[in-house]
Amino acid sequence: MTSDIIEIVLMGIWLTIPAYVANPSAVLFGGGTPMDFGKSLKSGERILGDGKTWRGFFGGTGSGIIIGLIQIASSSPIDEDHFGFGKFPDFIVIIVILAFGALIGDVLGSFVKRRLGIKRGKKAPILDQYDFLMGAWLLILIFKTQWFLDHFIIWPATLALITVIILTPFLHRGVNVLGYKMGKKDVPW
Ligand code: CTP
Ligand code: MG
Repeated sequence: MTSDIIEIVLMGIWLTIPAYVANPSAVLFGGGTPMDFGKSLKSGERILGDGKTWRGFFGGTGSGIIIGLIQIASSSPIDEDHFGFGKFPDFIVIIVILAFGALIGDVLGSFVKRRLGIKRGKKAPILDQYDFLMGAWLLILIFKTQWFLDHFIIWPATLALITVIILTPFLHRGVNVLGYKMGKKDVPW
């Protein structure tokens, strides 16, 4: 029983890795043309701001997909379900959605921040930590409903959901401090 729970929780973290890698990778690839092309809405606030660039968006998405494929490759000889990602071509769809969803969520997070009048790079607790995860989960819920229910919702998979929700702010903080020390981020959050 205990080992079942540990397995479910570890699988939940494993299945979130493409999103976990995609989001901070945008920082490494970021720069160049902003996704809103510098445009503002009538309020005078930028649509997204200079913190959302095309390079960051596609670099982040691509990194998440590559990590997911490495996960598949590394689990191939051991488990044909790839520890939850499923069989071909399901795992491709799932990995692409998780990585892409993370960056979509990140963009929506910035859109909401600007509408609330919060400047680029300024703190928005909860939104900053969870926007990418909610984006990934929402898209996967829409396009791979049964997979999401099986691995994160239906008891005892709920424990995976709870674990990832608890873990995410700590990981987010850790990665941002790292990015700050590497000189990739101006602020450690
Ligand atoms: N980044 C990017 N393109 C993206 C996402 C992120 O270029 N689609 C880069 C930017 O250099 C950004 C950095 O990664 O400044 C950190 O990302 P994030 O914290 O999401 O952006 P912020 O600058 O804090 O802006 P916002 O207030 O809009 O969240
Ligand atoms: Mg930020």
